[in-house]
Amino acid sequence: MNERAGIAGRGGGVALRCVGLVKRYEDVVAVAGLDLEVRTGECFGLLGPNGAGKTTTIEICEGLLAPTDGTVRVLDMDWTHDATQLRSRIGVTLQETRLFAKQTVRELLALFVALYDDARSADELLAIVALEEKAGARYQHLSGGQKQRLAVAAALAGRPDLLFLDEPTTGLDPQSRRSLWDVIRRFRDDDGGTVVLTTHYMDEAEALCDRVGIVDHGKLIALGSPRELVSSLGAAHVVEVDADGIDAAFDTAALEALPGVVEHACTTERLTLTVRQPHVAVPAVLRAVEAKSLRLRGLSTRHLALEDVFVHLTGRHLRDGEAE
Ligand SMILES: Nc1ncnc2c1ncn2[C@@H]1O[C@H](COP(=O)(O)OP(=O)(O)OP(=O)(O)O)[C@@H](O)[C@H]1O
Ligand SMILES: [Mg+2]
Repeated sequence: MNERAGIAGRGGGVALRCVGLVKRYEDVVAVAGLDLEVRTGECFGLLGPNGAGKTTTIEICEGLLAPTDGTVRVLDMDWTHDATQLRSRIGVTLQETRLFAKQTVRELLALFVALYDDARSADELLAIVALEEKAGARYQHLSGGQKQRLAVAAALAGRPDLLFLDEPTTGLDPQSRRSLWDVIRRFRDDDGGTVVLTTHYMDEAEALCDRVGIVDHGKLIALGSPRELVSSLGAAHVVEVDADGIDAAFDTAALEALPGVVEHACTTERLTLTVRQPHVAVPAVLRAVEAKSLRLRGLSTRHLALEDVFVHLTGRHLRDGEAE
């Protein structure tokens, strides 16, 4: 044990470290050599498209799967030697949680409370996730958002130092998502806990995560705070110009001549520009569109977001069905 062991759960240390993580299923490589470090007290997001290896990675970290290769240290312990102690210091929600349908929320929480020596009470957990009103409701009668909040409450039962949440808000309505974000933030900010979550939602990562790792094909392809990742693109805005036949009217030289353009992409109907200063680029684009006698059908500008980082790195969108 090194000197960090005593304080691993709080302040200044490394809560989770993966080195050279590999997971193979026959000919499928789910995790392809992943290095990752999560700092104590941060909310870290693993982002990536379907099949990127997020669940496999997080389940190896949770001790539920054995890696094919590589090492994982969790709170300065490892699953081979310290499994019992580790289990009492982490909280986990799986990508899909199914609990006993006929039991009530309070009964289910009592089961989790009974697993730990120093557990929160069921009442305390109900209050943390604002499910007091549903204490007597059967699991099968909860909404999706309530089930997810119950799963997080169960994960918090043993006062964990580190919380692993696999897609905690997928499929939830905006209000349920926000209320879970609040629970997660309070765990980090008030309890000093560390969070590792996976998500497909860029806005979730931007709102919640101190740092994110973007995973694709089992590898980490980018790492940093959402702000750092977005500013690594070297621009701040995207301008989209819709006009029929726009690709024929603008060749590469014409696009590069537009002021402040960092990147450009064009389909027959849409010109997408990544720009530093929209107030300079937009008038120039409009003048050029007019000079080419194109009929403008639409114009929009927006701030760059994490999604654009993913598109920049892979040429694909993160969510299924959003490919260009
Ligand atoms: N038990 C298994 N046997 C064979 N292949 C598996 C198994 N579990 C996962 N895989 C494969 O490993 C890859 C990574 O899967 P994983 O579940 O980790 O992805 P994910 O990033 O969590 O995706 P999603 O966003 O859809 O949850 C996928 O190609 C998947 O089909
Ligand atoms: Mg998954």
